[in-house]
Amino acid sequence: MGTEANPQQLHVDTYLVASGRPGRSPGASVNVPVELTSTYAADGAVNYARSGNPTWNAFEEALGGLEGGRALVHASGMGAISAALSLVPARGTVLAPDTTYNGTGDLLDAHEQAGGTVVRVHATDTAGFLAALESADLLWLESPTNPLMDVTELDVVLARSRELGVTSVVDNTLSTPLLCRPLSLGADVVVHSVTKYLSGHSDVVLGATVVGDTERGREIGERLRRHRTLHGAIAGPMEVFLALRGLRTLAVRFERASASAAELARRLEGHPSVARVRYPGSGAILSIDVAGDADAAERVCAATRLWLHSTSLGGVESQLERRRRHPSESREVPANLLRLSVGIEHVDDLWADLDRALAAV
Ligand SMILES: Cc1ncc(COP(=O)(O)O)c(C=O)c1O
Repeated sequence: MGTEANPQQLHVDTYLVASGRPGRSPGASVNVPVELTSTYAADGAVNYARSGNPTWNAFEEALGGLEGGRALVHASGMGAISAALSLVPARGTVLAPDTTYNGTGDLLDAHEQAGGTVVRVHATDTAGFLAALESADLLWLESPTNPLMDVTELDVVLARSRELGVTSVVDNTLSTPLLCRPLSLGADVVVHSVTKYLSGHSDVVLGATVVGDTERGREIGERLRRHRTLHGAIAGPMEVFLALRGLRTLAVRFERASASAAELARRLEGHPSVARVRYPGSGAILSIDVAGDADAAERVCAATRLWLHSTSLGGVESQLERRRRHPSESREVPANLLRLSVGIEHVDDLWADLDRALAAV
């Protein structure tokens, strides 16, 4: 790529617009093209498209700069998570929060069923993490956790993990690099469901891993790249093109959605149909425990007209879901909890729809 964008010299919103572009030669395209090919003429940098693609390179350059490392794009967030979990030995010990994104939770259960060990600590129990790190092979963190919105002291836990040489992974999907850059806190690997905020328009399923630009980071990055190539969970160039287009507006979307989330959290506090608001103080996701049972929470989802009742998050459209409707969701998640992903609509329209739907409790 011939971009001149340097994340060290630009504000992040400028970098998002400028990075991952073709060089500025006369007549050059402003966007990297969607390169549809399965193979390349011999003796070039890449010979087969399961190993690389110029459209991937542009996205990887942009995301790598954002996180302060080197990125790899994967077929989905789960593809990225699977690659990161391949870093733990088959019978090794993973230390993780007791509630994570449920797909990750299912893979951790599978690790245990295959003879490995998983030590689970409450996300806010810093002392518990520090003690359990002594015998861990891999530390898995998510902050805030999905959907309980618990915040782990990443800096403290990651610093100790680094001291002990324990490989650490942070799922940064909910925070995005705008709120948190885990590599700068000592993480070895960042994973993303690019499907969510980075793409931002609910039209793409994609994932990414990012490692530090250090000798250790490059060594881990090569293992992740090998996993991607050999297991074959690779991204389609069209999806990557769309993700890079979405990334251009990440700062504007996230700023707007975060401001609305803060305002909705404030208005929901003390609402007669809401027993508890779980909002970590930043970001665009919050969860609420409705003042009623699971059926009451389902009625709220069915009653919204603007909020979309659906299972994803991070799109321009606001979405809500009762997470326990998924049998694999952690039992730590209350049955009456609704996760709200705040989009970029006008906050007063969002409030009017939610307030009216909450009457269904
Ligand atoms: C925090 C988090 N990580 C990972 C994933 C999985 O990503 P994908 O659906 O792109 O495979 C999700 C999906 O909801 C998620 O919320």
